Amino acid sequence: LQIFAGNSNPRLAQAIVGVLETPLGRAEVSSWSDGETRVRLEENVRGSDVFVIQSLCTPVNQNIMELLIILDAVKRASAARITAVIPYYAYARQEKKTAGREPISAKLLANLLTTAGADRVLTIDLHAPAIEGFFDIPVDHLRATPILAAHFRRLGLTDFVVVSPDAGAVVRADEFRRRAGGSLAIISKKRPGPEVAEVLEMVGDVAGRDAVIVDDIIATGGTLLQAAELLRERGARRIFAAAVHGVFAGQALERIQASPIEKVFVTDTIPLPEGMCTDKVEVLTVA
Ligand code: R5P
Repeated sequence: LQIFAGNSNPRLAQAIVGVLETPLGRAEVSSWSDGETRVRLEENVRGSDVFVIQSLCTPVNQNIMELLIILDAVKRASAARITAVIPYYAYARQEKKTAGREPISAKLLANLLTTAGADRVLTIDLHAPAIEGFFDIPVDHLRATPILAAHFRRLGLTDFVVVSPDAGAVVRADEFRRRAGGSLAIISKKRPGPEVAEVLEMVGDVAGRDAVIVDDIIATGGTLLQAAELLRERGARRIFAAAVHGVFAGQALERIQASPIEKVFVTDTIPLPEGMCTDKVEVLTVA
């Protein structure tokens, strides 16, 4: 077994090889002066079972290209089997056409990964589980809810509500509730425009109780912050959030910092942006 990694999430790659007590494969993964990706494996992989770790976080297109080129290098070096380990699968929110003349980018990415050489994919909390079916190769679709829920349970809260911030998050929120306890509340959200979240109504009572909002992704933070505002209006006591992938795009971290949310739990599928205030964020490893 040999494990290589791109440059997107070196800390997670180190944590994984630490758990496995296997050294990370030696490879040069850098850029040519014109910005093209440059890859060379510095060890023999002929006949090996090779895993390539690369999270498809920001800079997303560059990280995708790095992964594709590493896969190509491993394939051309005659590995026996190649698994692309993709802790965060990008473009997963573009898994269907919502209007005419749009692409299905999540499917295109699946095609590219297979063409580049992946024999299997291992990923965590695909935004839309149906993306697994975009591949004609095996996909190990792991879930991080058990990690988030176990950590939350350790806080020892006794009276709390698990809040799904939209209809799409209900299954995940309910699994969290089954593992961590509490009762369930569901918010109805609409998106009047791209990257704009608007909360409509909530089913469930949070007055005088603690609340934890459970979602798969925090991107602009709009969904989370709208939900937190509603919870505060409805009298929630302490407000927490738990999400698998902390994308934290744009001003998300500043907005969270200024929000009524006490703590945000995310996993390390995506590294935290550097140079930002992350006081309210606690990172749990999926290694
Ligand atoms: C939506 O369907 C997802 O589950 C997340 O709620 C969403 O991607 C979060 O995006 P944002 O932080 O930009 O509201």
